[in-house]
Amino acid sequence: MKCEVASTDWNKIAADWLVVGVPSEGEAGPGKSAFDMSLRERIARLRESGDLTGKLGETLALRDVPEIAAKRLLFVGIGDPKELTRGKLGKAIRTAARLISEKKTERVAFDCPQAAVDKLELDTAICTVTAEAIVGSVGQGLYQNEPKRFPFESITVLVETEAVATAAADGLQRGHVIGESINLTRELVNRPAADIYPESVAERVRELAEHVSFEVEVLELESLQREQMGSLLAVAQGSDKPPRVVVMKHNGATKPDAPTLALVGKGVTFDSGGLSMKPSEGMKDMKCDMAGGATVIGVIAAAARLKLPVNLIGYVGLVENMVSGNSYKLGDVLKSRSGITIEVLNTDAEGRLVLADVLDYAVEKGCDHLIDLATLTGACVVALGDEVVGAFTNNEVWCNEVRAAAHLTGEHVWELPMHEHFAELLKSDVADCKNVGPRWGGAITAAKFLEQFVDETPWVHLDIAGPAYAQSSRGDQEGGGTGAMVRSLIELAAEYGANRG
Ligand code: BES
Ligand code: ZN
Ligand code: ZN
Repeated sequence: MKCEVASTDWNKIAADWLVVGVPSEGEAGPGKSAFDMSLRERIARLRESGDLTGKLGETLALRDVPEIAAKRLLFVGIGDPKELTRGKLGKAIRTAARLISEKKTERVAFDCPQAAVDKLELDTAICTVTAEAIVGSVGQGLYQNEPKRFPFESITVLVETEAVATAAADGLQRGHVIGESINLTRELVNRPAADIYPESVAERVRELAEHVSFEVEVLELESLQREQMGSLLAVAQGSDKPPRVVVMKHNGATKPDAPTLALVGKGVTFDSGGLSMKPSEGMKDMKCDMAGGATVIGVIAAAARLKLPVNLIGYVGLVENMVSGNSYKLGDVLKSRSGITIEVLNTDAEGRLVLADVLDYAVEKGCDHLIDLATLTGACVVALGDEVVGAFTNNEVWCNEVRAAAHLTGEHVWELPMHEHFAELLKSDVADCKNVGPRWGGAITAAKFLEQFVDETPWVHLDIAGPAYAQSSRGDQEGGGTGAMVRSLIELAAEYGANRG
């Protein structure tokens, strides 16, 4: 998608659509041109009639507006301008983009609302508009003969003056990359297990690295055996598809002694539950069980494209959890890479077994801060619903940093407790621990299980089982992969680089 910023007058822009954000209070845009005044009068009349309130996400489409060169005009509510955040602006822009992209368009112009410039600063406002326009116009109908959604050929973000060209160009480029990275993560999640399996993901990452320029290493079966990843390999053994661990490095820091941030992703390309098999209802969306890995891939790609001054390393543990004569079984005792032995009492608690070995590997290879992302437990969705990410940590300071980045980008993260008594629930009579605890507190016992493999490294585990995948579409969001936490982790990586890189 071609993206540009322009300071062309709204009325002169030749486009299929002109999108104008309307606040619930005050004027839409500060312009004083005759056109702005006439548009304001139009908005005032629509407000009086109750057709337009400026409520967040409310839309009103008008055709054949005589004052403008664009073919159609779309008003989208941005809510109370004093309360505007990146999250709210993003929601408004995605809603508009989703509506417009139902029909084929070439050029779409988005007014960058003045309220956004005032509250978020120009570059962040432009970045958000650009990224969310890109996300909103791309759908999940990857296999439809007749597409129902049409990505725009080009978007133009309209700003007030040219004096701000540098900030605008920077925001635009960031938004472009962030939008495409979110869509990459979404696409990887949306493709079914027949297309997305450990080898194909590794191949895709290799191709990506050629275009985007980061280092890749793929650990194949023999290397994983040599590394004694007994826990990950046990999950993989029931599948015809061999496992992979993909390592991606972006060494962007400029200081010689800059620390490293490692991201670890669960990449279960399909989770049937194994012998503790899921019923169809619970299994039907389990192509999404590699969303943590897809998030890591999206973030590394963005960091490399944006040349963020940070040392970032991504690890994705890729396996398929299947049923066969060779599946791992209940009662099996696994020897993890770290040496910790694990009694398997449920083969559907496989994500933690994969992460155990990859976390241990990441820590041994060296990192100063660690984050893992995983669609790990249904219990986390029960606890927090499907729009809030569960956070678990061994280091409050680091967790606060992660939460602050998420807060800035408007993604919802909520920390859950990690009291010692939860670890007691994983004690086993035959091994060092078992892979499941009792039903209650299931998201926390899963996190306590992982904690054993991170040593003293400041670590945050993010359970994205709810937010990573939307069951159905709504105004601002297409069903399927959502790209949850890509925005936040790019923000975090940028901050990490700015403060430490
Ligand atoms: N992949 C699932 C968790 C999941 C559930 C992801 C819903 C996305 C949406 C995970 O591997 C799993 O099956 N967890 C079990 C753990 C249980 C056996 C302790 C669960 O949540 O039921
Ligand atoms: Zn499972
Ligand atoms: Zn799983």
